[in-house]
Amino acid sequence: MLNKITVIGAGNVGATAAQRVAEKNLARTVVMVDVVDGVPQGKGLDQWQSAPIEGFDSRVIGTNGYDEAADSDLFIVTAGIARKPGMSRDDLVKTNAGIVQQVGEQIRRVAPESIVIVVSNPLDVMCHVAMKATGFPRERVLGMAGVLDTARYRAFLAEALDVSVEDIQAMVLGGHGDTMVPLVSYTTVSGIPITQLLAPDKLEAIVNRTRNGGAEIVAFLKTGSAYYAPSAAAVQMAEAIALDKKRILPCAAWLQGEYGLKDVFCGVPCKLGRHGLEQVLEVTLTAKERADLHKSAEAVRDTMKALG
Ligand SMILES: NC(=O)c1ccc[n+]([C@@H]2O[C@H](COP(=O)([O-])OP(=O)(O)OC[C@H]3O[C@@H](n4cnc5c(N)ncnc54)[C@H](O)[C@@H]3O)[C@@H](O)[C@H]2O)c1
Repeated sequence: MLNKITVIGAGNVGATAAQRVAEKNLARTVVMVDVVDGVPQGKGLDQWQSAPIEGFDSRVIGTNGYDEAADSDLFIVTAGIARKPGMSRDDLVKTNAGIVQQVGEQIRRVAPESIVIVVSNPLDVMCHVAMKATGFPRERVLGMAGVLDTARYRAFLAEALDVSVEDIQAMVLGGHGDTMVPLVSYTTVSGIPITQLLAPDKLEAIVNRTRNGGAEIVAFLKTGSAYYAPSAAAVQMAEAIALDKKRILPCAAWLQGEYGLKDVFCGVPCKLGRHGLEQVLEVTLTAKERADLHKSAEAVRDTMKALG
């Protein structure tokens, strides 16, 4: 168990993530920070009151400041505004960059040795803002997108094949956006290549549905975006770090030449343990997958440029 995990933003993703962190007993104290007066306090108290029923010992507290977050081992950053229907992730860029900048500066001030998992969108660019604002090395700033995109892909495949989600192994790389790269060549069902089980047109339809997985939910909800699966994904990364599991998960990492990409955050297979990002794994890609990954990274760079 870690000493303290702080979730920044007590909205849909943040509050659900805090609850999942507590229910998994990942930290002695779970802090929720939000700018809205009363909301983190109320949600924190409510969650803490579920502890005797759910049987967790993590003490959940909510606050509007950063004093309670001092010396946190890990932060999950969900602060920002979410997408509305018709709005792309990139539309969010300027507003959320200002918010994540401010949050990063506070994290550096109160917990300079911590690890940061960024969730706020546009994800890959917000990771860059957080890395600059904290001044942390790449090992301690990671972005959550690939775990979510992969979960959506696995769920759709399990549904199409009528098999357990547990038996679908897959990985979605690239930036978090319409250019994400589901790796069909590495998608298996208990070791059986997916191409032996699903016709190409069905597989392509699932890949496309995965690409639009976030938008599909925004269209249903109308006033917000997905948060059950996103919070579960962020907490899977937090768990890998807190329990030093050395899991291999697709995460946004600051690339330094891997896959021929440099100085850009992009989703790649990462080993996560107590030190944060412990290794970027370079796997062989098909020519098309590699080209798609580069295209995806270019889209991230375009947004970085738009932000200046
Ligand atoms: N990476 C992903 O895969 C993924 C998935 C889902 C959502 N997201 C992103 O996560 C973010 C949060 O989504 P949500 O659905 O929880 O939104 P939400 O609106 O429910 O919650 C956001 C919260 O951030 C708070 N906030 C704003 N400025 C703040 C600041 N300076 N400090 C602390 N808190 C602040 C708001 O008061 C609000 O409570 C959005 O940017 C969304 O696009 C990313």
